[in-house]
Amino acid sequence: MASSYPLVFSVTSGKGGVGKTNIAVNLACQLTAMGKRVLLLDADLGLANVDVILGIAPTLNLSHLFHEGMSVDKIIYRTEHGFPILPAASGVSEMLSLSTGQKLDLLEAMEGLEENLDFLIVDTGAGINDNVLYFNLAAQERLVVLTPEPTSLTDAYALIKVLRNNHGVDRFKILINMATDAKAAREVFMRLYAASDRFLEGVSLDLAGWLPLDPHVRQAVIRQVPFSVLFPDAPASGQLKEAARTIARWPAANRLDGNIKFFWKKILFHEHQREPLA
Ligand SMILES: Nc1ncnc2c1ncn2[C@@H]1O[C@H](COP(=O)(O)OP(=O)(O)OP(=O)(O)O)[C@@H](O)[C@H]1O
Ligand SMILES: [Mg+2]
Repeated sequence: MASSYPLVFSVTSGKGGVGKTNIAVNLACQLTAMGKRVLLLDADLGLANVDVILGIAPTLNLSHLFHEGMSVDKIIYRTEHGFPILPAASGVSEMLSLSTGQKLDLLEAMEGLEENLDFLIVDTGAGINDNVLYFNLAAQERLVVLTPEPTSLTDAYALIKVLRNNHGVDRFKILINMATDAKAAREVFMRLYAASDRFLEGVSLDLAGWLPLDPHVRQAVIRQVPFSVLFPDAPASGQLKEAARTIARWPAANRLDGNIKFFWKKILFHEHQREPLA
């Protein structure tokens, strides 16, 4: 029995290639190591990044649940790191075109997951396309990843602006990746904070952590093992664990209809929209 509802958070960014998938996978590993029950939803529908980083090749995904009535249990891929993965593979537009019956089936399947989880981590694609926006809107918390590169900063700001101004999202967690040190990470955060504070009304940004630029990350990607598992003492692993400890303390809202079910409900029945997406 879960002591409280699971927390659903997305790992997202304005610019691509900033480290989202590595961070999502390693957070899943480290939260699991802390005794948390985690499910990783691979919602990056472009490239199978999670698979590559873990060196796995799941053959089933959510479309098998929609179209072939497979149980969610069958689709879930169990990794050797103690947490399972749910490969999304199909886009939100496909999910929206499901019949009401299929949508209700999916919701029912998700209800079963609820009581066994502490975290649902959603690895999204980059940018502000519909798929990314939907997953971000449906999550309870959004962990926006950016690097010290100026374009990464402006793209993170653009993502936050769209979510704030068009969809009323006002709370963001920030993770700075590939920084030289804590001070540099803090400076990047403060630049984003200053721009948001000045131009966006009522936005709250929280620094959830930072990771150094660390060659171990690339080496681990090549070896297809999560960096915090392959190199537990590497600088990036130390900071990643620190971020995991911070995230472990985030409170989850206790919704009447559950957080995972609520997440899917928002996606499937667009209950979050202030403005219709294209
Ligand atoms: N802290 C780091 N130090 C050094 N290299 C890093 C670090 N984080 C990520 N990288 C490098 O950046 C590459 C891209 O990372 P990743 O695939 O996790 O980014 P992403 O944001 O998920 O990309 P996409 O937008 O394509 O989904 C990795 O393959 C790795 O080589
Ligand atoms: Mg990725």
